[in-house]
Amino acid sequence: MTKEELANISMPAHIGIIMDGNGRWAKQRGLKRSEGHKEGAKVFRAICNYAQEIGVKYLTFYAFSTENWKRPAEEVSAIMDLFRDYLFEAQEREEENMAKGMRVRYIGERSALPEDIVTMITELEKRSADKDVITVNLAVNYGGRDEILHAVKTIAKKVEAGELKADNINLNDIDGNLFTAGQPDPDLIIRPSGEYRLSNFLIWQAAYSEFWFSDILWPDFTADDLDKAIIDYNKRNRRFGGI
Ligand code: FPP
Repeated sequence: MTKEELANISMPAHIGIIMDGNGRWAKQRGLKRSEGHKEGAKVFRAICNYAQEIGVKYLTFYAFSTENWKRPAEEVSAIMDLFRDYLFEAQEREEENMAKGMRVRYIGERSALPEDIVTMITELEKRSADKDVITVNLAVNYGGRDEILHAVKTIAKKVEAGELKADNINLNDIDGNLFTAGQPDPDLIIRPSGEYRLSNFLIWQAAYSEFWFSDILWPDFTADDLDKAIIDYNKRNRRFGGI
């Protein structure tokens, strides 16, 4: 984005991205699906850095859904390896990431992940907790319905304990018990690869999000595509139910 464009744009505070199309990208090239994920992981890094440069405050990447366990074990383990590689690299390049003011958070159900990954992500969350230039949420073993269920159970326990009256449960109670508690809802959700669905991504938080779809496969997604999505977003007339 040029400096002039940047100066005149309303930057979405929170962008959610569904990194889709890695498998098809690999197939088109006669490669294994895992090669597509590997390329997708490179694009993930590049988009993180670019979003930080242009002033996005929150960025959520959907990397692995609660339903993705249905994939062949080899593919699941290839994706976990890429997550692991990223976490290793984040440790090695800690100074660089910290200097960028990047906070990393995990969203999803971490107990089902390999133990070493849980340790690394928990450490990274702690070490970057005071950074506030950009927050990157990694949605791995994430499902929107699961997230709502988790919130409902937490609230139900409060009711059981007599700390809250059922009639007094309000929207803030639900918001405050989601994995994204305290963060703004996504203004813009991007899904490449020609699919037009949310696939259980931030289903509560997306109530008033703007959507941007494209046929580009995630490994081919560039900073220019992010610019296009943001420029299109600026043409939308968001009314939040008003007039
Ligand atoms: C969807 O494409 C992509 C995934 C299920 C995996 C995305 C994971 C990465 C990019 C690895 C990086 C992760 C982290 C956390 C650093 P698809 O396989 O469904 O594509 P297809 O629809 O073309 O088959």
